[in-house]
Amino acid sequence: MIKNICCIGAGYVGGPTMAVIAQKNPDINVTVVDLNEQRIAAWNNTDLSKLPIYEPGLDNVILEARGRNLFFSTQVDEAIDKADMIFISVNTPTKTYGIGKDMAADLKYIELCARQIARVSTSDKIVVEKSTLPVKTAEAIHDILYQTCSGVNFQILSNPEFLAEGTAMEDLNNPDRVLIGGNIDTDEGKQAVQELVNIYAGWVPKEKILTTNLWSSELSKLTANAFLAQRLSSINAMSELCESSGADVDEVAKAIGMDTRIGPKFLKASVGFGGSCFQKDILNLVYISKSYGLTEVADYWEQVIILNDHQKRRFSTKIVKTLYNTVSGKKIAFLGWAFKKDTNDTRESAAIYVAHDLLTEQACIAVYDPKVIEERIYTDIRSLHYASEKNNTEGVFVFHDAYDCCKDAHAIAVLTEWDEFKEYDWQNIYNEMQKPAFVFDGRNLLDQKELERIGFIYKRIG
Ligand code: UDX
Ligand code: ADP
Repeated sequence: MIKNICCIGAGYVGGPTMAVIAQKNPDINVTVVDLNEQRIAAWNNTDLSKLPIYEPGLDNVILEARGRNLFFSTQVDEAIDKADMIFISVNTPTKTYGIGKDMAADLKYIELCARQIARVSTSDKIVVEKSTLPVKTAEAIHDILYQTCSGVNFQILSNPEFLAEGTAMEDLNNPDRVLIGGNIDTDEGKQAVQELVNIYAGWVPKEKILTTNLWSSELSKLTANAFLAQRLSSINAMSELCESSGADVDEVAKAIGMDTRIGPKFLKASVGFGGSCFQKDILNLVYISKSYGLTEVADYWEQVIILNDHQKRRFSTKIVKTLYNTVSGKKIAFLGWAFKKDTNDTRESAAIYVAHDLLTEQACIAVYDPKVIEERIYTDIRSLHYASEKNNTEGVFVFHDAYDCCKDAHAIAVLTEWDEFKEYDWQNIYNEMQKPAFVFDGRNLLDQKELERIGFIYKRIG
């Protein structure tokens, strides 16, 4: 029986997942640890609007479980040693150096965790991989644990997270499936899998809990994300064809989505997908395929990324072309910076790439996002390399009010599909803009007829 859980990494995955596990299992103590003191302090903040991540419904779960059986701490060693089960939820970004640069996952944080677990453990542990990882990472974790720690038994499980940001609480409460991979050829492995099944069985119907071998579980996670991203690149490719041919991509999506073999979800054409998973996981898949010598397989999946990059660039090019081939000195108002609505996460957000292109064209970018803090936006811009570090953020202005952001703008670009954008007083916005007033709707969110009636020149995707 598991009594104490430790989760290493208090991010977008570790935080919400552990909050729900603690909420549903009041008899288990769950401690989420992180090296980042600021992040832990934010998780412990009594003002729930100051939690480090924005996720609808998360605050209520934190309110219920925190201090009862859910704890956030920077005491990593202590929490590891006390735990029977340890989740690894640290970040696994794409490598930015050396072999596999821009493709392979950087496993240094995972390795550091494994070494730390080996160093401080004095009792048997079940170690669960939660972060998305390349296939066979469990083997590396296994080697490190067994070769650097003696006398303690470890079982390694893979339990990939399928929650999407913005709907994390619903996805965790009511998952399509829970996947648990383990060493099911041995009794100890089977038992470890069963311990984790028991934790989820508190609220997830048994038939939705799948158990597999480790490698199938690891590869299923990459495959799920690759298939989802592939749908997006497919519909985005069609959006360009629609723009050339006069078809309407939303109509096409509806028509094909009603075919039950295709289904209606994940067919919304946009300025390009973002988020921490899709690009990283596909690059991972490409890298693994290449390392097995499977060139055609690698090229097949890489095309999903190439198309996505094209979609983002196409959007910024359209803005420049439509504004009479120059945006130099013009104010372009960005509505939205997050990679999707209902999150404050900006990783790989299309907005960052579109901003980069327009800044290269010497535009002034005004940004408003309801949940992304100013410092995050400047950090994202600083990470771009179009200019020297020093003047990177020149030309970027962050606003706390959407109307101020749009005032005197030559054009508005909708980068995130926040619901509130639909409710704005668009007549008022129009009155305060430069004329002709353009709207580039990267999410096909706004009411085209109404905007055109007001006088906007409205351009959408597909
Ligand atoms: C994704 C997977 O959905 C999730 O299962 C996995 O665990 C992590 O990666 P996430 O990145 O949080 O989740 O969000 P998701 O809803 O998948 O959206 C990813 C990107 O695709 C966003 O930029 C979103 O705006 C875009 N998208 C999604 C579209 O452009 N159109 C759609 O129809 C759906
Ligand atoms: P994800 O979206 O996968 O949850 P995040 O970047 O939001 O990714 O969260 C990962 C967290 O893991 C970060 O807060 C980071 O500080 C933390 N982390 C990374 N390495 C370690 C480590 N060795 N020990 C504790 N925390 C770590």
